[in-house]
Amino acid sequence: MALLKILHYPDPRLMTRAYAVTVVDDALRQLAADMAETMYAAPGIGLAATQVDRHIRLVVIDISEEKNQLRVFINPEIVQQAGEREGEEGCLSVPGIYDTVTRAEQVTVRALGLDGQPFELAAEGLLAVCIQHELDHLQGRVFVDYLSRMKQGRIRKKLLKHDRETM
Ligand code: NI
Repeated sequence: MALLKILHYPDPRLMTRAYAVTVVDDALRQLAADMAETMYAAPGIGLAATQVDRHIRLVVIDISEEKNQLRVFINPEIVQQAGEREGEEGCLSVPGIYDTVTRAEQVTVRALGLDGQPFELAAEGLLAVCIQHELDHLQGRVFVDYLSRMKQGRIRKKLLKHDRETM
């Protein structure tokens, strides 16, 4: 297992569109395990492969308090969504920044599991939000993109300064 380096906004690599996974093998399972370890260590509740500079459609999520309900989504697609909710979001790629984003209240996601078998999951509330947030990463989108230009500029400046000081 290994901790992976998480890219920080506004790193242009975060704007990469991920490719579909073609084969679910041990290398992919290892990457998923490393991503989970990285997410837990951060700590965070979700991580997309894009954020660790691996541009394939792979996401890990665990919203449980006890950090014992890891969910892995390979080639996830939202096949159904309903409702609307506003909530505060943050992101491991945008450290220290939280803001309100409007998302669907419920989503149904279709994906492959680590065994390569397809599954469907109906989610609502925080899990639904987290799924939408992580799937955005796979499209090269971060939650900051939903905010006003002015806020985006401010966040970019703040994080560039922060990363310069801590590198
Ligand atoms: Ni994120």
